[in-house]
Amino acid sequence: MDQDKIMDCVDNVPSLSPTATKIIQVANNMNASANELVQVIKMDPVLTGKVLKLINSVYYGMPQKVVSLGRAVILLGINTIKNLALSTAVLGAFKQKGKLGAFNMNLFWEHCLGCGVGSKLLAKSQGVSKMQLEEYFIAGLLHDIGKMPLVQFDHEAYDKVLKVMEDEPERDEAEIEEEILGTTHTKIGGLIADKWKLPEPLKESITGHHNPTITGTDFSIKIAVHLANIDCNRKDFGIVPSRNVEFTEEVLEAMEMTDVDLELALAPLEEEIELAKVFLKLGN
Ligand SMILES: [Fe+2]
Ligand SMILES: [Fe+2]
Repeated sequence: MDQDKIMDCVDNVPSLSPTATKIIQVANNMNASANELVQVIKMDPVLTGKVLKLINSVYYGMPQKVVSLGRAVILLGINTIKNLALSTAVLGAFKQKGKLGAFNMNLFWEHCLGCGVGSKLLAKSQGVSKMQLEEYFIAGLLHDIGKMPLVQFDHEAYDKVLKVMEDEPERDEAEIEEEILGTTHTKIGGLIADKWKLPEPLKESITGHHNPTITGTDFSIKIAVHLANIDCNRKDFGIVPSRNVEFTEEVLEAMEMTDVDLELALAPLEEEIELAKVFLKLGN
């Protein structure tokens, strides 16, 4: 793929709805108030309905039914509502289901959901505050977003990538993509993040989830997504089964974590994915 084709591929990615764009603006503005956010979401009644449906799903296990966004913000915090609205809007932008060539969209979204859930479980185990957890979830949900336009643009070429990945499980995914497509899903994902003006930590986990640069010992969103992605592949929540992946030694050392710590933190993964499937059932 030459540079023009790459740009065409990214141009094909749908724009986010005006509401989603405004939510991102609010999200990027540190001084925005909860009320501002509620007003933005409320402008879109369908989105409001979906956010309330999520909040009242078993995944969030609220003791009482939440009937208004204002109440939801009080109970769950502005950050949670912001990220829920954003997840819903982004999922809505990609309506495709079923299969495109060998690429199974349903499995793909299940993988993304698994990474969101896993990343959040890891954040919980690291004592990340409740208010920040949804940030980890959405980062996992979106980490492979660059694959969507690649598959939609030329699914025959992407089929070749999948075939080589299956035949040569030891080989690096990015290397295979680069060889066959002339680009990678993380690069395309970064361009989408720019197009949608996604917040920086989200962009970082989209572009850096395969080879996260480690600075200090901070448990960043990018690190959580990186580890959750590996765990999902190990547990076959992936579009290419049986890839041989181990947790990255360097990351474990920097985070002072062991395989056992990770296994414990991620033990509820399957169960939580089942509960979180409500995200994929929102319909469009
Ligand atoms: Fe990836
Ligand atoms: Fe992934």
